[in-house]
Amino acid sequence: MLDLNKEEAYRSSAIHIDRQGDPSVLTYTEDLIGEPGPGEVRIRQAAIGLNFVDTYFRSGAFPVKAFPYIPGIEAAGVIEAVGSWVTDFKVGDRVAYHFIPGAYAEVRIVGTHQLVHVPDGVTLEEAAALLVKGFTARMLVKETYQVKPGDIVLVHAAAGGVGSLVTKWSKSLGATVIGTVGSEGKKQAALENGVDHVFLVDCEGFGKSVAEITKGEGINVVYDGVGKDTFAESVGQIRKGGKIVLYGSSSGQPEQINHAALRARSINMLTPVLNAYITDYESLQTFAQDTFAALQSGIFGKLAITQYPLSQAAQAHSDMESRKTTGSVILVP
Ligand SMILES: NC(=O)c1ccc[n+]([C@@H]2O[C@H](COP(=O)([O-])OP(=O)(O)OC[C@H]3O[C@@H](n4cnc5c(N)ncnc54)[C@H](OP(=O)(O)O)[C@@H]3O)[C@@H](O)[C@H]2O)c1
Repeated sequence: MLDLNKEEAYRSSAIHIDRQGDPSVLTYTEDLIGEPGPGEVRIRQAAIGLNFVDTYFRSGAFPVKAFPYIPGIEAAGVIEAVGSWVTDFKVGDRVAYHFIPGAYAEVRIVGTHQLVHVPDGVTLEEAAALLVKGFTARMLVKETYQVKPGDIVLVHAAAGGVGSLVTKWSKSLGATVIGTVGSEGKKQAALENGVDHVFLVDCEGFGKSVAEITKGEGINVVYDGVGKDTFAESVGQIRKGGKIVLYGSSSGQPEQINHAALRARSINMLTPVLNAYITDYESLQTFAQDTFAALQSGIFGKLAITQYPLSQAAQAHSDMESRKTTGSVILVP
């Protein structure tokens, strides 16, 4: 534990929670940050990615180890101090990380084993908007099911953070994308992402429309990050031998999974988590190189990024939980 005193401590704005609950538990405060230890760097963060999972750690759906707890799992910034034994990073490097809890802060110390360099030409805001959501999109379109030309893909929450990137990546791989959204207002955002057909998630006649679009063949793969409200309906739209990839549950877990219905048409169900695909520094580099290359090749177009000041984290959580946000959301210290 570093012994902080006025000479060696740096002030950092941060969000704390002292208990789990609704967004009002997110408190804007100040921390004192010391010097990085062996294998660590101190980062001045320019942008922090907001992810749906942050709401789980805040609300109590997921446990946290101790209070005060600093939410957030990804950010991008500039290294301003380097500890001993660090060889691959230096002061002034632009870096980003995914899944290191404690991201809602202006300045923080992290180990380098989960850091990636942000390439020239990619802004820190883009990196914070892209890492977790882009890595997840890569896992979905390249690992869980390899999208190929001619595929018909169903993407739920197609205007959301992950959904936007899955849509764009699937389009670039030659798929036809059917997207669902939760409100009329989000249809335009989904269309701007490139979906070929967009539906309200609870619209009547969805199955009939999908049957027409797929000429009765059904869908190759469903990417479902919504869960409870979408899973059962999706199963009926998948072709024989197709796949359903349940990667999230923003509406809750599906109440009952009809395994007989899946078996009857040899439908393969996957429930992937990113951390099972990024297990070491090598796989992290592969995901980062591919995802940044996808951005730089233009397949995501201009990233849709909504910014909130870090001090407004409670508002950002509230907007995400009430389905008001589209695209990627970042918090700016
Ligand atoms: N498996 C993994 O490793 C992994 C990694 C990253 C993210 N995820 C999951 O991916 C999903 C998307 O994450 P994200 O950060 O990009 O969030 P997001 O999609 O930007 O936001 C969640 C979206 O879910 C939809 N939704 C449907 N019912 C909802 C409800 N009752 N409450 C709130 N939202 C509801 C909303 O879109 P509509 O209004 O358009 O329906 C909302 O915008 C989440 O479930 C997340 O946990 C999984």
